[in-house]
Amino acid sequence: KSLKEYNTFGIAANARYFVSVETIEELKHALSNKSGRNFFILGGGSNMLLTDHLDAIVLHINLKGIEILTETKTEVFVKAMAGENWHEFVQYCIANNFGGLENLSLIPGNVGTAPVQNIGAYGVELKDTFVSCTAIEIETLKEKKFSKAECAFEYRNSIFKNEAKGKYIITSVTFKLTKTNHNLSISYGDIQKILADKNIETATIKDISDAVISIRQSKLPDPKVLGNSGSFFKNPVVDAQTFQDFRKKFPEAPFYEISPTEFKIPAGWLIEKAGFKGQRFGDAGVHKNQALVLVNYGTATGNEIWQLAMAIQKKVKEMTGIFIEPEVNVF
Ligand code: EPU
Repeated sequence: KSLKEYNTFGIAANARYFVSVETIEELKHALSNKSGRNFFILGGGSNMLLTDHLDAIVLHINLKGIEILTETKTEVFVKAMAGENWHEFVQYCIANNFGGLENLSLIPGNVGTAPVQNIGAYGVELKDTFVSCTAIEIETLKEKKFSKAECAFEYRNSIFKNEAKGKYIITSVTFKLTKTNHNLSISYGDIQKILADKNIETATIKDISDAVISIRQSKLPDPKVLGNSGSFFKNPVVDAQTFQDFRKKFPEAPFYEISPTEFKIPAGWLIEKAGFKGQRFGDAGVHKNQALVLVNYGTATGNEIWQLAMAIQKKVKEMTGIFIEPEVNVF
């Protein structure tokens, strides 16, 4: 089966076997019929690059449902199943005046894959409202609940990219959201600018969500129109010595001081500096408004995108001395 419709890069890789599961029972049943083949777990397909056909059983996690577990006057615990589309879930929360996820509007992908890389944007990360998630252990079919601490969230990282990688399938995620006194995150300059332009003094979560949507639409390509996987690289964090050397060469570069020994530099800036912004090689390219995003103009293969990514990595390292690492999972 072609996976072109199942990955936001729009790569036409094929799966040897393909099963879409809509209930936990179906999921367990599919997992027990293994017959020696590997499973490939597919959620929203928004953070992966397929460089080859998959000789595996592709399990499409299509579990649906949103449920309010408990609530008080001020807070609500909401559980969403893994197959819910992330942005639709965020919009459900906005419509019900549940605060906490508005800055994460319009991020592609599904609820179940959001914890894997601790999705984040405009000053907010998934971990800020995450309570727990449930998962099925592939080997034993046992259900396990992961607390926030157990998930070991970091910038674009979690246990699901490390020790637990390939061992579990996340089936649902529970969030703690606000019903009153929303804790708005408006530190990001672009958000402040939009609120000021609209003369909004006391913003609602809907205002923030709308602002984030318009910022993203202005900078980031819509995967339905132009295949992409969001940021292809992580923003590198370098030590003080590397940072000093870099600053001498590029005093104009933007940076963010995490601590006296850790400096984060925008990979998009480095890639633009290396001359790749807006470049196109066949159907593989670097987006014109955001150099951090690699795009598929139509018929690029995963391998062509990967070749481009490696060329960028090499040039950036040569020019700036900084190594940038992919954020997407490359298969
Ligand atoms: N920049 C350039 N050229 C570019 C792109 C960026 O010079 O082509 C500079 C900008 O001028 C700015 C800095 O880099 O000074 C940072 O850019 P921006 O605020 O747009 O954010 P980013 O670091 O490029 C990160 C996330 C995005 C997230 C935004 C907003 C990572 C890897 N990416 O991008 O996440 O939406 O911040 O919070 O951390 C994603 O993960 O898929 C994603 C889109």
